Amino acid sequence: MKKMLGAGAAFAVVALACAGAFGAANKNSAADTSLPLWAWGYVTPPPASPLSAAPAAAPTPALDNTTKHTLPGSKFSFTRAEAGQRYAPVDWYPEDHPAMPDIVAHGRESAQPNPIYPCGLCHMPNGKGRPENANVTGLTYEYIVQQLHDFRDGLRVTSDPRKTNTALMAGFAKSMTDEDIKAAATYFAQIPATKWITVKESTTVPLTRQAGGVFLPLEGDKAGSEPLGNRIIETPISVEDFELWRNPRSGFIAYVPAGSVKKGEALARTGNGKVTACTVCHGADLRGLGPVPRLAGRSPSYLGRQLYDMQKGNRIGAWSPLMAPVVGHLTSDDILNVSAYLASLEP
Ligand code: HEC
Ligand code: HEC
Repeated sequence: MKKMLGAGAAFAVVALACAGAFGAANKNSAADTSLPLWAWGYVTPPPASPLSAAPAAAPTPALDNTTKHTLPGSKFSFTRAEAGQRYAPVDWYPEDHPAMPDIVAHGRESAQPNPIYPCGLCHMPNGKGRPENANVTGLTYEYIVQQLHDFRDGLRVTSDPRKTNTALMAGFAKSMTDEDIKAAATYFAQIPATKWITVKESTTVPLTRQAGGVFLPLEGDKAGSEPLGNRIIETPISVEDFELWRNPRSGFIAYVPAGSVKKGEALARTGNGKVTACTVCHGADLRGLGPVPRLAGRSPSYLGRQLYDMQKGNRIGAWSPLMAPVVGHLTSDDILNVSAYLASLEP
């Protein structure tokens, strides 16, 4: 592994040079028709001009602060307003995770150049995350630190400019001190990965609406189903738990095309004669090897985005050159199939 990362370091010089030439700008100035929209939570391609994609700031509706709600097994009850606080994300089950350092629990609103939202807001106090961000459990300290440096240095941008939370993530990394990085990485590296996603092979999928980079099943008389086609659609098991209460014990279902898991398995385990098998670097069980990240049991939307971002040169971190020869040979079907397979594994 040392040897591989040594090679990575040599490539990193090239990556850094590229980053200098292109800056942190995303490399799709024209409409990108190859983008796997399913991984970004959209159904239509990004607009041709990233500038016109800048979302209008949505007014934040005032949340109810009278009616208390509780979740099964939680000692607490909170109102919607309490559960929706930005700088004190709701923590229903403190017993599920170690004590959070301040940066994870509260962020730092006064940080410069950008206020830092608490990591626990998006990645949740237990680190399990959501399809539109990332599961940060089961990763090593070294890997997490490296990613924060890559975000900070403009080496991780997203291929769809509509995905503004990736830019926020990079903004937080720019404001984090070495102490913040150390505290957050130490915290998340302690949390082992546990099951969070159920993969279902299917030819149909519930009708969904798009909400901030996630597909939410329609409910009531709007509910129905449609052909899945060549997509992965990842949805929360409970829309209410996801949207209203940020329940950190309520996971996700990923609908994947019939046969995709088996095809993805062949690619991951053998490389199909065109790439190095993923198991060589990510471990025989795909749960990570040394600092190389765990892939087993992770969000297929997240995995699909990362593979595509690396393929497009939008993720060019210090260690990304080790992935370059791999992603260079992957088709969009390969990305879909391998994401389905990896998500289906026990983490
Ligand atoms: C506004 C939501 C948000 C907050 C708050 C946030 N992140 Fe993230 N984070 C993201 C998103 C989105 C991604 C994935 C980007 C993508 O898919 O393009 C990400 C990715 C990551 C990754 C990469 C994981 C991997 O496997 O490579 C790490 C590490 C991370 N975040 C750490 C943190 C830390 C530490 C904090 C607190 C300082 C934090 N994040 C706060 C949204 C957030
Ligand atoms: C030569 C070693 C090597 C091989 C082979 C390899 N990977 Fe990787 N992979 C890495 C390294 C190193 C990273 C971290 C890259 C970075 O930090 O930017 C990585 C990162 C990733 C990520 C991003 C994970 C995250 O948490 O953001 C995904 C997804 C991934 N690899 C998938 C695959 C798949 C699928 C295959 C097989 C088709 C594969 N890799 C083969 C070394 C490898």
